[in-house]
Amino acid sequence: MNLQIEQMNVEDLLKISQILYSDFDNFWTVETFKQELENPNTYYVVAKIDSEIVGFGGIYQILTEMQLNYIVTKKEKRNLGIASQILDNLISFANNKNIEYITLEVNEKNTNAIKLYEKFGFKQIGLRKKYYNNIDNAILMQKNI
Ligand SMILES: CC(C)(COP(=O)(O)OP(=O)(O)OC[C@H]1O[C@@H](n2cnc3c(N)ncnc32)[C@H](O)[C@@H]1OP(=O)(O)O)[C@@H](O)C(=O)NCCC(=O)NCCS
Repeated sequence: MNLQIEQMNVEDLLKISQILYSDFDNFWTVETFKQELENPNTYYVVAKIDSEIVGFGGIYQILTEMQLNYIVTKKEKRNLGIASQILDNLISFANNKNIEYITLEVNEKNTNAIKLYEKFGFKQIGLRKKYYNNIDNAILMQKNI
């Protein structure tokens, strides 16, 4: 698999705008996502196989903390190691900045994502009860850099 990770730009977003909801479980509007990409405190990457976008992920920097905003793999390409490569790139980016830790929150029912994060050394540091739709709990996780 010839997978490449590149910094994401607005052109990439426009290429997948029609399939954001169906193929990437995305919940942002294209306009909100565009503002995210243009925010100087964010860093987003796309994973491409040849020229096909098969995943993306991004982080938001606040002083010495980075928050993992989102990471997703295209539905038909899951469990092939794509999110692992995206996360590896985001962690390398944090390593090259003055970052002390990366935090994230994840639905406690999202076991695939939790396994991915644990594989990269994230540890549970807290729980937000009924955080999602006033039903599901959110697990807070952190990785020290
Ligand atoms: C979570 C998600 C990003 C994983 O993407 P992926 O490309 O399939 O992940 P990888 O192939 O790199 O797998 C990474 C690890 O996750 C775990 N994992 C992923 N899919 C799994 C599955 N179907 N069953 C069991 N474990 C799984 C494994 O631990 C795996 O590591 P391993 O293969 O070395 O054992 C993907 O399922 C997804 O896009 N989900 C919807 C969006 C989402 O929930 N994002 C996270 C919250 S923001």
